[in-house]
Amino acid sequence: MIYTQNLCKRYGKFTAVDHLNLHVRRGTVFGIVGENGAGKTTTLSMLATLTSPTSGRAYINGFEVSKNPQDVRRCIGYMPDSFGVYDDITAEEYLQFYADCYRVPKALAAQRAKEYLSWVGLEDKRETYVNALSRGMQQRLEIARCLIHDPPVLILDEPASGLDPRSRIEMRGVLNRLRTLGKTIVISSHILQELCEVSDEIGIMREGQLAAVAAVSVMLNHSTAYRTLHIVADAKPVVWEKAVRPLEHVVDLRFKPDGVEVVFAGTLQQQAELLQYLLDHGVTVYQFRERPTDIEELFLRLTEGTVDQS
Ligand SMILES: Nc1ncnc2c1ncn2[C@@H]1O[C@H](COP(=O)(O)OP(=O)(O)OP(=O)(O)O)[C@@H](O)[C@H]1O
Ligand SMILES: [Mg+2]
Repeated sequence: MIYTQNLCKRYGKFTAVDHLNLHVRRGTVFGIVGENGAGKTTTLSMLATLTSPTSGRAYINGFEVSKNPQDVRRCIGYMPDSFGVYDDITAEEYLQFYADCYRVPKALAAQRAKEYLSWVGLEDKRETYVNALSRGMQQRLEIARCLIHDPPVLILDEPASGLDPRSRIEMRGVLNRLRTLGKTIVISSHILQELCEVSDEIGIMREGQLAAVAAVSVMLNHSTAYRTLHIVADAKPVVWEKAVRPLEHVVDLRFKPDGVEVVFAGTLQQQAELLQYLLDHGVTVYQFRERPTDIEELFLRLTEGTVDQS
């Protein structure tokens, strides 16, 4: 559905997107995560036909972005990372204006505007001027705007940026509901954890390239298979190294200022046995608890190949 082949964008001598090969299957959500300047916006804007590639190709729904930009535009709803100042226009008029641009018949446009406003939780803001909506509401309105011509592909550049925690949760609800529409979606963010909640596959972008790609289901399976135990006890490092590290289910040991972290690949029963084992060795255990999996670390372990991906 979305394909790029050695897609590049150079600004003078600087390469913003560097031989990018991206593949997003129909009906799936692909999350692109990366630091500031990684090349996310440049990539998405090339897919949206707004920036022309220096070399390489990008296809959406079989259309090549450089050769058939009009066809590509009909297939996509694009939410840029920032949007301009709105004139005096209500939320409903705003959606109808865009529907007009895409030549959606008037009656259908009115129906869709109403439907999608309620879909993004703005049903009671139909008549509110867009510039009087909060940032979170404007961003949800942008999602409705992307849907107005019912495109099969959505390209969303940081739809949750600049939002407070409550608005982020609302946006996440909208993004999760988008998945039920069966559209093919590319979405960017700085926050891996948030992307994992709404994506099927994740790619880490670094210096214009996809440094790693992993399926979220694989990552989540591993996050339950591997737990990190945080243990505070009166044992010396040598005891941990000699008595604990060799144990069958212990994957790794890390000494932290506030205790020892044990990466553990066993069941809850085996976890209980580890505690008993420490006690049997005369160790006083002050704390023994499971830490939530650090999703960033898990992703890195997976993509560096230090974890079996089967
Ligand atoms: N018009 C331009 N002229 C020159 N350099 C540019 C231009 N647009 C982007 N760049 C550079 O390309 C690189 C990638 O920028 P891009 O906006 O794609 O990154 P990003 O991953 O979206 O970052 P952010 O997380 O800050 O949104 C940056 O170093 C940026 O300075
Ligand atoms: Mg950006």
